[in-house]
Amino acid sequence: MTPAAGEVILVGGGPGDPDLLTVGGLRALQQADVVLYDHLAPLSSLAEVKPGATLVDVGKIPGRHQYTQAEINALLVEHARAGATVVRFKGGDPFVLGRGSEEWLACAEAGIGVRVIPGVSSAVAGPELAGIPLTHRGLSQGFTVVSGHVGPDHAASTVDWDAVARCGHTIVVLMGVKHLAAICAGLVARGLASDTPAAIVAKAASPDQLVLRGTVATLPGLAADVGVEPPALTVIGAVAGLELPGL
Ligand SMILES: C[S@@+](CC[C@H](N)C(=O)[O-])C[C@H]1O[C@@H](n2cnc3c(N)ncnc32)[C@H](O)[C@@H]1O
Repeated sequence: MTPAAGEVILVGGGPGDPDLLTVGGLRALQQADVVLYDHLAPLSSLAEVKPGATLVDVGKIPGRHQYTQAEINALLVEHARAGATVVRFKGGDPFVLGRGSEEWLACAEAGIGVRVIPGVSSAVAGPELAGIPLTHRGLSQGFTVVSGHVGPDHAASTVDWDAVARCGHTIVVLMGVKHLAAICAGLVARGLASDTPAAIVAKAASPDQLVLRGTVATLPGLAADVGVEPPALTVIGAVAGLELPGL
């Protein structure tokens, strides 16, 4: 007899601190039969799963089998078809540069029930934990979040970097460590003032959180001097020059 299909729950784990996992996300973990997890999720929360639950590490670790997105989609479907409640445990929010919607579509196409529990995105939490508000009366009335996995002049970038340079509000760049110099130079070449405040926040929400502040002209050099490594995000705009005392 074919088992009753289970379901897939896409859970946003927040930026890494287990205290920033939502109550709903924690509850889903506690009910899961199978958890497929990434490394940017709060891994200590995996201790909350029920006895006998299967944990599958699909995170990217150099030198080990890398699960492709297609393989992850197939695993979600396979476990749910076998009747399991499957949690896909991801860092931040599943739908912010997180490929959660691709996983949703794969489940839906396979006829598997799927739902999402939003998470606290690093795009908001990272700056905030560094004392940088994304908006502040008189400084910024909005924010733009973009992927920096390729630089502004790369053919694979679909970001309108001219518009980003001219937006007049806060710019948050995720996945931009490798191309930080090209991104900052590209924004200045497109009209952003080179003395615009900028900050990099690495390993936000962890005991190793590191914050570097400078300008769009100086930040790449500061980051290179320290050897900043992912995960890290960059905040560009007047708010990056604001320091909230005591935070
Ligand atoms: C693939 S994207 C996923 C973003 C995630 N869905 C979110 O909403 O936070 C990964 C990027 O998010 C940023 N990021 C995630 N967690 C972070 C953290 N704890 N500190 C700083 N940046 C982080 C980094 O820019 C990293 O390269």
